[in-house]
Amino acid sequence: MPSHQARNAPLVILGTGYTGRVVYHQALMLRRTVLAASRTPETNLADLPPDQRFVFDLNRRDTWAAIPSGADVVWTFPAVPLDSVVAFGRQVGTRMRRLIVLGSTSAYDNAPHTARGDLIDETCPVDLSIPRVQGEEYLRTTYGAIILRVAGIYGPKRNPLDWIRQGQVGSSDRFVNLIHVGDLAAICLRALERGVPGESYNVSDGTPRRWSEIIAFAVSRRGISRPAPDGRPGLGKRLDTRKLQGGLGYRVRYPDLSTALDELELNESGPP
Ligand SMILES: NC(=O)c1ccc[n+]([C@@H]2O[C@H](COP(=O)([O-])OP(=O)(O)OC[C@H]3O[C@@H](n4cnc5c(N)ncnc54)[C@H](OP(=O)(O)O)[C@@H]3O)[C@@H](O)[C@H]2O)c1
Repeated sequence: MPSHQARNAPLVILGTGYTGRVVYHQALMLRRTVLAASRTPETNLADLPPDQRFVFDLNRRDTWAAIPSGADVVWTFPAVPLDSVVAFGRQVGTRMRRLIVLGSTSAYDNAPHTARGDLIDETCPVDLSIPRVQGEEYLRTTYGAIILRVAGIYGPKRNPLDWIRQGQVGSSDRFVNLIHVGDLAAICLRALERGVPGESYNVSDGTPRRWSEIIAFAVSRRGISRPAPDGRPGLGKRLDTRKLQGGLGYRVRYPDLSTALDELELNESGPP
């Protein structure tokens, strides 16, 4: 359970898209006061009560004042451009209780660990030539933001078997790291409670898998045609998530990809 202080702080979700919506519903289940943001809430969040949604656009300073003082904030879109991120930090940085920023494991793409196929923990250097990484690191080092370096997000309507069916993924032995959106949302809430300000945490289900394993499952269990080799160079990344498990004490609800994929297929095979 969240601490008393955390439970009382309003939770603000900046960008209520695929992950933000699940954070919203999980936070309501925990009886938190939630405010969900969108650049166009009347259309994108039309299904939410008006008092739980507001306009927020990183590129429009006039929208930033709507974030209440003392709020817990979960930021779910790329932290770019840097000048807007810096201006946002100056205006809002010190009046948030906690700030969680969703980053990406692509920050590690050019690290020597990746080239060697070594396990990647949070001491691995991130690529500061990537604009979103600059924004994340600015918020982390200046305002104590907690950065979640997130693996491939999957879940309802983002089914990895559909990526294979639709030819978005080719056959290879490259490694891939995945996280179910239900786990990612729960990790955002857990990080607000137990994360150390200024730290980053790798986020996946803890098991780097080879695409060839997932494709073998797709072929044998779902009768999906084997895709052509993708021919991409590189080994893929192998993410180490011991800090997530130890530091945040989080145990994933979807550790077994086969079970999670079966569940997605079952739920998506019905009428639309
Ligand atoms: N997809 C993956 O596999 C993957 C993997 C690793 C990391 N990530 C990262 O994880 C985060 C969450 O992913 P997601 O798929 O849940 O994202 P998403 O569905 O795109 O949701 C983010 C929402 O943020 C809002 N937004 C975008 N730009 C904004 C801006 N400049 N100012 C204010 N709001 C803005 C948009 O909503 P409105 O249009 O309603 O404003 C958007 O729907 C993203 O940063 C993504 O890059 C994704």
